Amino acid sequence: MKIVVHTDQAEQWQTALSEALPDATVLTSAAPAKERQGADYLAVWKAPGHLLAEQTALKGIINLGAGVDHLLATPERPKDVPIVKLRDAGMGELMADYVLYGVLHFYRSLDHYRLQQPDAQWQPHEVVEKSQWPVGVLGLGAIGRAVASALYQAGFPVLGWSRSPKELRDIRCLHGDAGLDELLGQVQCVVTILPDTAATRHILDAERLARLPQGASVINPGRGSLIDEAALLEALGDGSAPGHLRGALLDVFEREPLPTESPLWRHPRVIITPHMAAPTPLADAIDQVISYVHAFEANEALETVNPDEGY
Ligand code: GLV
Repeated sequence: MKIVVHTDQAEQWQTALSEALPDATVLTSAAPAKERQGADYLAVWKAPGHLLAEQTALKGIINLGAGVDHLLATPERPKDVPIVKLRDAGMGELMADYVLYGVLHFYRSLDHYRLQQPDAQWQPHEVVEKSQWPVGVLGLGAIGRAVASALYQAGFPVLGWSRSPKELRDIRCLHGDAGLDELLGQVQCVVTILPDTAATRHILDAERLARLPQGASVINPGRGSLIDEAALLEALGDGSAPGHLRGALLDVFEREPLPTESPLWRHPRVIITPHMAAPTPLADAIDQVISYVHAFEANEALETVNPDEGY
């Protein structure tokens, strides 16, 4: 069996997969093209098209991340090869930490204190009951569910939204366009953890942002395409006074790295992080990839990506 790996940490992957699968030849994409050809599996993150085009005997492509947008948008992708992707694999907990940080930042008015400090302004803000501060989570896949559950455990009422109906314990699940409008009308903070697909592009546009209550906040650790950045800036106001929205914590952007000239960098009510909310924990991810290879080899049913749906 031959596996070709392409990621930033390809050598660590090569070592771990070789140990776990002693009968397999595991190569990184740095190996000569001749050696790479005829692979059974590609285990890849943001692979260049030629790595996909050169293969003729693939049994499966393993996407070393949760989002398959890059892979699906690669024209050289062989259309008849099943794709599996990392599901949670430790990313749920990291994402939950990131979102909790952001939710508490706004809930406990740290955004206001940050703005007061340059003027030495000693002014405490009221702490409302958590029961009055519902949080909305858009996207209830493996990671979205972990985030929703962590927020509920932290004491916040949580409303979840997905395209099709879902049921989760302790989370009020809504779906469809009407469900989205209902959620947006009620939450103090909205968190976007949806995949990047044709159906989710600018799901938070000007009209939907306007549905959020005055003073609500936005946290986007999902994909930059989910939010219309121009509409978000508009809703945040010019920074001198609160706009319709009080602030945003953003990890992902329509263009990454976020261009230096983007006004988001300098907006006083925006916190920017460089797509770091949930770096894939290597050990968990490697275990999951090994179990995928075993399942492929044993012809077991696998939860594969549906390219038409985009996740
Ligand atoms: C990271 O962005 C991922 O999709 O895993």
